[in-house]
Amino acid sequence: MDESGMSCQRSDQEFDLGRLRREAGLRQLEFHPELPSTNDRALELAAAADVEVPALVLASRQTAGRGRGGNRWWSAPGALTFSWIVDAGRIGLSTRQRPKLSLAAGLAVCEALQGLDEAGGARGVAFQLKWPNDVFLEGRKLGGILVEAPPGRPGRLVVGIGINLNNSLDSAPAEVRETAVSFIDVCGRVLSPTEALIRVVRHLRDCMEQLAEDAEGLLQRWEERSLFSGSLVLLDLGSRRVAGMCRGVDIDGALVLQTEHGLERFFSGVVRRFE
Ligand code: BTN
Repeated sequence: MDESGMSCQRSDQEFDLGRLRREAGLRQLEFHPELPSTNDRALELAAAADVEVPALVLASRQTAGRGRGGNRWWSAPGALTFSWIVDAGRIGLSTRQRPKLSLAAGLAVCEALQGLDEAGGARGVAFQLKWPNDVFLEGRKLGGILVEAPPGRPGRLVVGIGINLNNSLDSAPAEVRETAVSFIDVCGRVLSPTEALIRVVRHLRDCMEQLAEDAEGLLQRWEERSLFSGSLVLLDLGSRRVAGMCRGVDIDGALVLQTEHGLERFFSGVVRRFE
């Protein structure tokens, strides 16, 4: 771990930890060259009485990254993998709004990367969202979000984020290459990981605050980036599949589908385009 606040340089990824600490509004920062999972470490920290939030656990490399639904999260050097620990109550997020936090986090990642990409004078690629919180680029998954809560600390949440930023998928397992994408492979440019992280963390805070004050406005912005709105989709519910026209998300963050039974709302499932 390096908590020195100095620039931390490795052959694969360089983070300016001092800048990160100053500019990302963090009260605590833990950097690890390698960890099994930043969410596992963040859950430990979040359960401790003396953690100062917002806090960030950052790793250059994860050896056992976790995804939603018990999936593994493949991450290679150059990927951004981190977990943000926050106190939802302190941000003013009511219990009712908390299930929407993962949607807000997906939006934060999209808007942060969009801003960074365009700030570099690029033509700008479109970062989109697949319900509930997958970040997509060019029709493939660029990043994922795993929100978890530590036991015994109501209000504290861990928002784990993985983004394929400067890591090529050339060395990824075949099943990852089939569905995923990385920024460097699509755009051929390296983005500053420090700058990307600062922007994402700031957007996370802003999106959480907007969720607390104006959930409708936030969901409207989410909708503008929705990959499948207006498309025919298949929702995989595990035991059954539902086909319908995607009508976006409602005020509760539910996915709304126009099915053969009318407008239906769903709170879980995996969405696929109906081809
Ligand atoms: C998903 O799309 O299934 C969610 C993937 C979340 C991956 C990130 S990487 C940083 C953090 N640590 C983990 O072990 N998982 C999350």
